Amino acid sequence: MTRLMVVSAGLSQPSSTRLLGERLADATRSSIEAGGGTVAVEVVDLRDLAHDVVNNVLTGFPAPALARVLEQIAAAQALIAVTPIFNASYSGLFKSFFDVLTPDSLRGKPVLIGATGGSQRHSLALEHAVRPLFSYLRAVVVPTSVYAASSDWGTADGSSALAERIDRAGAELADLVTRMAPTAATGPVDPFANPPSFLDLLGR
Ligand SMILES: Cc1cc2nc3c(=O)[nH]c(=O)nc-3n(C[C@H](O)[C@H](O)[C@H](O)COP(=O)(O)O)c2cc1C
Repeated sequence: MTRLMVVSAGLSQPSSTRLLGERLADATRSSIEAGGGTVAVEVVDLRDLAHDVVNNVLTGFPAPALARVLEQIAAAQALIAVTPIFNASYSGLFKSFFDVLTPDSLRGKPVLIGATGGSQRHSLALEHAVRPLFSYLRAVVVPTSVYAASSDWGTADGSSALAERIDRAGAELADLVTRMAPTAATGPVDPFANPPSFLDLLGR
C-alpha cells in the first residue's frame, strides 16, 4: 500500500489549487493501480493549519494538529505539493509550512509539484522557485511539474492540455514510487527489523 500525501496551499473555497492536487492524486492512483498496487491518499489544506504554522515559526514547536500532519508526511511514500502562485513565486504559507517541516523528512521522497495562477506567464515559477526548494530538501522531484492557469480550467483546449500534463506527471510519480520500493514504498528502514540469530552469532 502506497501512502500518498497531498499538501495544498490554496486559500480560496473552493480552491483551484486543491482541485489540481486532487487531480494529480487521481492520476497517480490510476497509474499505480494499473500496475497492481494500492494507494491511500490523504489531502491536507494548509489554510486550516495557517495559525499553527505561524506559531511554529515563532515558537519552534508544532501544535498537535500540525504535528500530526508533519508525522504523516514523514511516513508517506510520496508527496504531491501544490501552491497558488503569489507575486511570481510560491505563497508565503506554502513556504512557511515547508520551513517547519521536520528536517530530512523529505530526503529521498518522490515529490510531484504543481501550481495554479491567474496568468499563463508565471508557469516557470515552478522551475525557478518550487523545484529548487524541494531539491534543497533533498526530495526526488519528478520531471513534469504541472501549472494550471485560470484559462486552463475554462476552455476545451486548455482543459485537455492540462489533463495530458496531469496524466504524464501522475505516471512519473507512480513510476518513481514503484521503482524506489522497497525503501521508499515501505517507509523508513527499521535497523532492527532483521536481527541475526543468536545461534548464528555463537557459531561464528
Ligand atoms: C496576493 C496574490 C498574488 C498573486 N500573484 C499572482 C502572480 O504573480 N501570478 C499569477 O499568475 N497569479 C497570481 N495570483 C492569482 C492566484 O495565483 C490564483 O488566483 C490562484 O489560482 C488561486 O488559487 P486558489 O483558488 O487555490 O486559492 C495572485 C493572487 C493573490 C491573492
